[in-house]
Amino acid sequence: MTSRNNEFHVGRPNIGDQRVFFERLHEILESRWLTNEGPYSLDLEQHIAEYIGVKHCIAVCNATIGLEIAIRALGLTGEVIVPSFTFVATVHALQWHGIKPVFCDVHPSNHSLDPSRVERLITKQTTGVLGVHLWGQVCDVRSLQEIVDRHDLRLLLDAAHALGCSNSDGMAGTFGDAEVFSLHATKFINSFEGGAITTNNDVLAKKMRHMRNFGIAGYDQVDGLGINGKMHEVSAAMGLTNMESLEEFVRVNRRNYEAYQEGLAEVLGITLMRYEGERCNYQYVVATIDPDVSAVSRDDLLTFLHSKQVFARRYFYPGCHRAEPYRTLYPNADDRLPETNRLCHQVLVLPTGTAVTVKDIAWICQLIRHAMAGGLAVNGLN
Ligand SMILES: Cc1ncc(COP(=O)(O)O)c(C=O)c1O
Repeated sequence: MTSRNNEFHVGRPNIGDQRVFFERLHEILESRWLTNEGPYSLDLEQHIAEYIGVKHCIAVCNATIGLEIAIRALGLTGEVIVPSFTFVATVHALQWHGIKPVFCDVHPSNHSLDPSRVERLITKQTTGVLGVHLWGQVCDVRSLQEIVDRHDLRLLLDAAHALGCSNSDGMAGTFGDAEVFSLHATKFINSFEGGAITTNNDVLAKKMRHMRNFGIAGYDQVDGLGINGKMHEVSAAMGLTNMESLEEFVRVNRRNYEAYQEGLAEVLGITLMRYEGERCNYQYVVATIDPDVSAVSRDDLLTFLHSKQVFARRYFYPGCHRAEPYRTLYPNADDRLPETNRLCHQVLVLPTGTAVTVKDIAWICQLIRHAMAGGLAVNGLN
């Protein structure tokens, strides 16, 4: 194995109490109950539901399958309005079901769906809106809910980034018809791979549980279309163990975020996204590089940081609408996405999480200050 000790990555996993996890792993193996609604997956569901304050939580194998289950259970068809500035899984989940993703631009302040642009995209084929709480900032769910109510549409939310986040109306996980969290290794809380669907709708919850398990209704009884979306016990034990360290992860992420704020405060041309929610997991440190002010481009800065083993990342370049199959299927989407296109060229996400220390951040900020002062060619920093 190669050592990564001197490398700094975006999205290295947050890991809770390893001793507790190994005890749970041992218990799982002893019990031989490895999957199929075992005690740990039920425990995790209850833990997440109670933490968020939502009636139902359905653990799934990953958020992509979670989105697909929710899409099918909500009966979405035809067209669904969705941001292009998101991870491609949000959009693939629609296209996979033969639904046309109608790309909508995002708001410059939170990088999430701009409700003022949603309504004009509604057509007779529209059945819903799929919003994303990008970077863990709860999107403008109040305005989106008003729009979907006015047009009798469904509201589904991709909350992949937003476990532990809220706005003044409540916690992510309580909005719309349903919300879907990711518990992937790179996410704030991980279960190696995994996801969780939440809803306050009893009928919908029952339907989604049923779909998650092949549409099986009982012994020898399949009464509908389903998929294998189950979470296994080892994943659930990891998710539960990490949930128990949630406050500690927030504390470290916040400390890291503030260290970046301090380290980059005086640097012209780089701005850190402000977190405006009531509660926030600070899992992403999102910088934008303004090409009109900065001495270096975002991409040159990225190359420089990579050369110093700082693996910052440009998300979600080049934008879903410019990736296949969407570029070919919907070539006109580009014209109505100026903010998305701008962000794709300006956003730089910096390493954080519990694997990154304040000392590491001081070094990363020093590199950035050096580069932004026009020092890309200088090799003085090692
Ligand atoms: C916004 C967004 N939606 C969906 C996903 C898919 O999550 P998963 O990897 O759990 O399928 C991710 C991340 O991977 C994501 O960032």
